Amino acid sequence: MRSIASRMSVMSGEGALSVFARAKELESQGRSVIHLELGEPDFHPGPSVVESVAKALAEGKDRYCAVAGVPALREEIAVYLQRTRNLSVSAGNIVIAPGCKAALFFAMMSLLEPGDEVLYPDPGFPGYPSITLGLGAIPVPFELSCCNHFQPDLSEIAAKITRRTRMLLTNSPGNPTGTVYTDAVQRGLAKLAVKHDLWVLSDEIYARIRYAGEYISMLSYPGMEERTLIIDGFSKSFAMTGWRLGYTVAPPDVVTALMMMAVNTYTCVNEFIQYAAIDALRDREGATPHMVAEFARRREQFIHDLNEVPGFHCEVPAGAFYAWVDIRGTGVSAEEVCRILLEDAGVAAIPGAAFGPSGKHFVRFSFVSSVSNLREAAARIMKVSTAWQGSLAAR
Ligand SMILES: Cc1ncc(COP(=O)(O)O)c(C=O)c1O
Repeated sequence: MRSIASRMSVMSGEGALSVFARAKELESQGRSVIHLELGEPDFHPGPSVVESVAKALAEGKDRYCAVAGVPALREEIAVYLQRTRNLSVSAGNIVIAPGCKAALFFAMMSLLEPGDEVLYPDPGFPGYPSITLGLGAIPVPFELSCCNHFQPDLSEIAAKITRRTRMLLTNSPGNPTGTVYTDAVQRGLAKLAVKHDLWVLSDEIYARIRYAGEYISMLSYPGMEERTLIIDGFSKSFAMTGWRLGYTVAPPDVVTALMMMAVNTYTCVNEFIQYAAIDALRDREGATPHMVAEFARRREQFIHDLNEVPGFHCEVPAGAFYAWVDIRGTGVSAEEVCRILLEDAGVAAIPGAAFGPSGKHFVRFSFVSSVSNLREAAARIMKVSTAWQGSLAAR
């Protein structure tokens, strides 16, 4: 009988996309919507990056190319990681992929056997448990709790490690909480990984979007070189979401496996895009620091405004561009808050359960809109908050 493979029924989609679809529907009816649902910077790469694509195409760089990525890009990524993360990795440890999501998928497919357990942050990027389940492995969440300022709890993680634990997934700065893991937490996670001989998949896609301090990669800690894979890319730090470009930094045997994945799936990533990415990494126009400075301004304004809304509580995120708002004080569910915000106020945000069960009482707003739009969004939210203030008064 013809049927869809059972693995497809255990995988899941992303909450942001369904909110986006409804927001678009409202807009097509003439309603004004402020889009704070997608994790997509409202910036574009600088003119020199765009010119590089045109130049690469004019030079005929539109062929099949090296499976692991063009050598010049792999070398530039090594230089970039040294400059921005103080890491010494060689170009031979880097494999280019069509986006971070693909890099994550291929890394997990290369390393996991059915029945293996994967520790991952909850709330976290929805792809982590979905890909794990799709591969027949078992997702084991560790909670990022507000009591712990959304830092991983080392004792909880230690207690959840079993004989079958194969991989620890980390994401700092994290989606959706914006948490930057402390040095002590990362050191503790590294010790656990060494003690139990785990793979560590460190999703560092937001590494450049931080508001203070130096970035410390999971790869920097003792014993991590042979077990750590860094996933990073161009979607967030260089506002290149639609370019679909990411990469994995991995030990040599994993590089061989990832190349086998590439040969059997995408063959290679667009050659002209890879050449333009070299220009993005050099960032001669200062596009990344400029964007992060603008996110910092928005963060200051928007988190302050959100904390004025009755029933809302939001910690100031140390990285990424998300406001993760505890809505327990409203007395209504996160789904209901988001429904009121979208339908009555024209503000699109995502109920936190889209990021895992621990997100149940939260709402995620992306501050990917101008300060004036964010001020307008906050004013609209304040106006409709009367909807739940009634239920608060009745309690
Ligand atoms: C934590 C995290 N990892 C990975 C991705 C996927 O990134 P890409 O657009 O490069 O596939 C995202 C995108 O939202 C993300 O938030």
